[in-house]
Amino acid sequence: MTNVAVTLEIVATEFGSPDVLKAVPTKSRSPGRGEVTIQVRAVGVNHTDYKRYADPSYTVSSGQSTPTFPLRLGVEAAGVVTAVGAEAMGPAGPIVTGDEVIAYRITGAYADTITVSASDVVPKPTKLSWEQASAIMLDGTTAAHALAAVRARPGQTVLVHGATGGAGLSVVQLAVLDGIKIIGTASTKNFEMLRGYGAQPIKYGDGLKERVVEAAPDGIDAAIHLVGTDEAIDVSLALVKDHSRIVTIVAAAFDRAKETGIQTIGGASLPGQDNPGIAIRDAARLRMTALAQAGAFDVKVVRTLPLAEAAEAHRLLVKGDLGGRIVLIP
Ligand SMILES: NC(=O)c1ccc[n+]([C@@H]2O[C@H](COP(=O)([O-])OP(=O)(O)OC[C@H]3O[C@@H](n4cnc5c(N)ncnc54)[C@H](OP(=O)(O)O)[C@@H]3O)[C@@H](O)[C@H]2O)c1
Repeated sequence: MTNVAVTLEIVATEFGSPDVLKAVPTKSRSPGRGEVTIQVRAVGVNHTDYKRYADPSYTVSSGQSTPTFPLRLGVEAAGVVTAVGAEAMGPAGPIVTGDEVIAYRITGAYADTITVSASDVVPKPTKLSWEQASAIMLDGTTAAHALAAVRARPGQTVLVHGATGGAGLSVVQLAVLDGIKIIGTASTKNFEMLRGYGAQPIKYGDGLKERVVEAAPDGIDAAIHLVGTDEAIDVSLALVKDHSRIVTIVAAAFDRAKETGIQTIGGASLPGQDNPGIAIRDAARLRMTALAQAGAFDVKVVRTLPLAEAAEAHRLLVKGDLGGRIVLIP
């Protein structure tokens, strides 16, 4: 291992609010066999980045390893390859210096330089900006996993709770491409946007079940939960006949989901534990890049902040009502 430069990384120093985030200098190293070094241009900010240090129960419920501090943050980034080790082979082929790439799923994306396994690196679609490319993978692969989990088929109708968030818009886009009809819950102000993506919007809140029945008189085949509310779970349990065709991605709802026969999915894999979803997510990476390259998949980035302002990005994320993704720029 050779130290080549001092770089900057954002870590969480303990459990707590975003105030526990700190910028630390780290020594970057030359890539080893099967690794590449990437100069990061943009980092996707996700709820899991925040929850890992904000909620001590989160890692247990979501099946992730228990955090040790300082905790490295960030699962996805986009940037330029600056060095490659021997046999640097990614899912799309050999990786060479100068390649523009996306790294996912990685640990420690909140940094200006990262050295990661080439097996986690795919080409960046030229149609996407750096910001969009850094925010496509967690949501896109989760969406593919969720649609596979509920066995959604062309011509079927799927109810999506929380359809306008990062994960929601990814589910909507993949489903519509596959000829699946989506009824998506949203705030009224987001109805037009959701219609633009090809989904039928309905308002969440009191009377949701009746509105879903009215929107889908022939019934709902499956439901995907991207919010953890009891209201969403109650409505899906009442309207989807086969409860194994309901899935939630929200760790806070996993206990109730397991009690009621609803599936729970995540992208983490602990040593010795089998997560069949990982293969689905891995396969989805190149589908996502191909769709984005063809102009068939959009990533909605609404805020960019300097990497050093990661704490502020997390405060905005928790406040909600963003209408799209936040991205950090080193
Ligand atoms: N298991 C996994 O692999 C995985 C992967 C990615 C994300 N997640 C989790 O999935 C959740 C969603 O992530 P995200 O990035 O899509 O979040 P996000 O971008 O912050 O979006 C959340 C969405 O929830 C909607 N919403 C708020 N309150 C609601 C309510 N009471 N009923 C229905 N919808 C409501 C909002 O819609 P309006 O603005 O239209 O009101 C908003 O668009 C998070 O908990 C995240 O941690 C899990």
